[in-house]
Amino acid sequence: MDITDHQRLLIIDFGSQVTQLIARRLRELNVYCEIHPYQKVTDAFLTEFAPQAVILSGGPDSVTREGSPRAPDAVFEMGVPVLGICYGQQTMMTQLGGKVIGGHGTAEFGRAFVKPEGELDLLQGWFLTEKEQVWMSHGDHVSEIAPGFQVYGTSPNAPFAVTADVSRHFYAVQFHPEVHHTPNGAKLYENFVRIAGFIGDWTMGAYREQAIEAIRAQVGDKKVICGLSGGVDSSVAAVLIHEAIGDQLTCVFVDHGLLRKGEADEVVKMFRDEYNIPLIHADEQELFLGELDGQSDPETKRKIIGRLFIDVFQKYANEIDGAEFLAQGTLYPDVIESVSFSGGPSVTIKSHHNVGGLPEKMGLKLVEPLRELFKDEVRALGVELGLPPSFIGRHPFPGPGLAIRCPGEITREKLEILRKADAVFIDQIRSHGLYDDIWQAFVAILPVRTVGVMGDGRTYDFACALRAVTSVDGMTADYYPFTHGFLGETATRIINEVQGINRVTYDITSKPPGTIEWE
Ligand code: XMP
Repeated sequence: MDITDHQRLLIIDFGSQVTQLIARRLRELNVYCEIHPYQKVTDAFLTEFAPQAVILSGGPDSVTREGSPRAPDAVFEMGVPVLGICYGQQTMMTQLGGKVIGGHGTAEFGRAFVKPEGELDLLQGWFLTEKEQVWMSHGDHVSEIAPGFQVYGTSPNAPFAVTADVSRHFYAVQFHPEVHHTPNGAKLYENFVRIAGFIGDWTMGAYREQAIEAIRAQVGDKKVICGLSGGVDSSVAAVLIHEAIGDQLTCVFVDHGLLRKGEADEVVKMFRDEYNIPLIHADEQELFLGELDGQSDPETKRKIIGRLFIDVFQKYANEIDGAEFLAQGTLYPDVIESVSFSGGPSVTIKSHHNVGGLPEKMGLKLVEPLRELFKDEVRALGVELGLPPSFIGRHPFPGPGLAIRCPGEITREKLEILRKADAVFIDQIRSHGLYDDIWQAFVAILPVRTVGVMGDGRTYDFACALRAVTSVDGMTADYYPFTHGFLGETATRIINEVQGINRVTYDITSKPPGTIEWE
């Protein structure tokens, strides 16, 4: 458990798909919160965590089922405000003496409207009209509220849409205030944390100070190495750690020859020249491209790159005398433990494939100063640390780089053509002011030559595909709806400016069924 000096709110997770959104809403209110699966929240945990308020999340189970999840009773005995959402509301009612039923007429999915019944501090400023749109997703509903509770809001299929025991500051809502389709839902969280006495001490300025102290305390006078990819997470981690321990940090930037145009220079210039961070520029293009020569299978390519990356990183890291720590840009979504109903809690930890396995192999301890942050908080911290906004807002770039945008065999010729075409595409997107509306955009060079005619001559050059998607987290994505004008102009520019490409296509596949990258 990570305990900060900030006021803390505990979210007990019963497995809802949208529990992370609750945390997002609270963080936006400058409230520090952590999500923990219900199985882990014991009385001892509660005492140690000492939350100033508790939120019980939604979940897929039915409280009418014997053995279904419950909140520890101690939650209701700590004297702190509690907010139950959907399943959380139902278990709260059941545990405090009310009743929940399932069956005909109790379900409600999608948009619904809640009407007020009297005044409630939690709903202050919420009802802008006589009814408020909310998002419902429940099979059961509360049929009898617990002693001490009163009804403050109703919807057609949830007579107890909002209930509360004001004297104990217990609140229960049937709908999901955290989702986009409850348009004014953030107001409920704002009211809840105000009622619970949160002062909003979770700011990036405060976090920066605290993180610096924590890094100093952890590292002491030892040395830290950090694999810098040029991506936002590792960059922000590096700058933060450098601010904490200065030259005790050395960054290793592995240039595998699969970077975009000008990328290696930009990264080296920024970190070495502007931030004065000791940086090893490991130019290993020959090694990577040599081993990739003749390989066309996507998984083989990924494996070669992953293996070489670890070897190279280790080789350079070994040169740094006395390094005891490895810095990683692990984020909070990577460490949240997910609720599993099939056996014990499962832990979802994305291995940072670029340096995965390194800490054990090299006997290094980890420094992970971003473990408590969501992606947009990392960006905010980057701004706080003075990284240029244009750098912080950059689209994600995969570890294997251009290798997975070059389906089939990789050649230096293809990489060169791809770099140029990609630069034109990104320039087009930027100059049309679309960059920030797009989650990720790039060109893939296709393993096919096609016939064209330019001037009076026949050409036989590569075809390429433009890819641009909207997404929230990269898990699902849709293609970006460029205008035909934009696409036509971009195709013309690429064919005119990039020798080696004579045909441009636009990839309009969503994810699923496609993936964002071509390999
Ligand atoms: P896909 O292609 O799986 O990509 O839809 C989703 C997101 O992940 C990135 N990606 C990778 N990132 N190593 C990485 O570091 C990889 O092997 C890798 N494959 C895909 C991709 O760019 C997109 O942002």
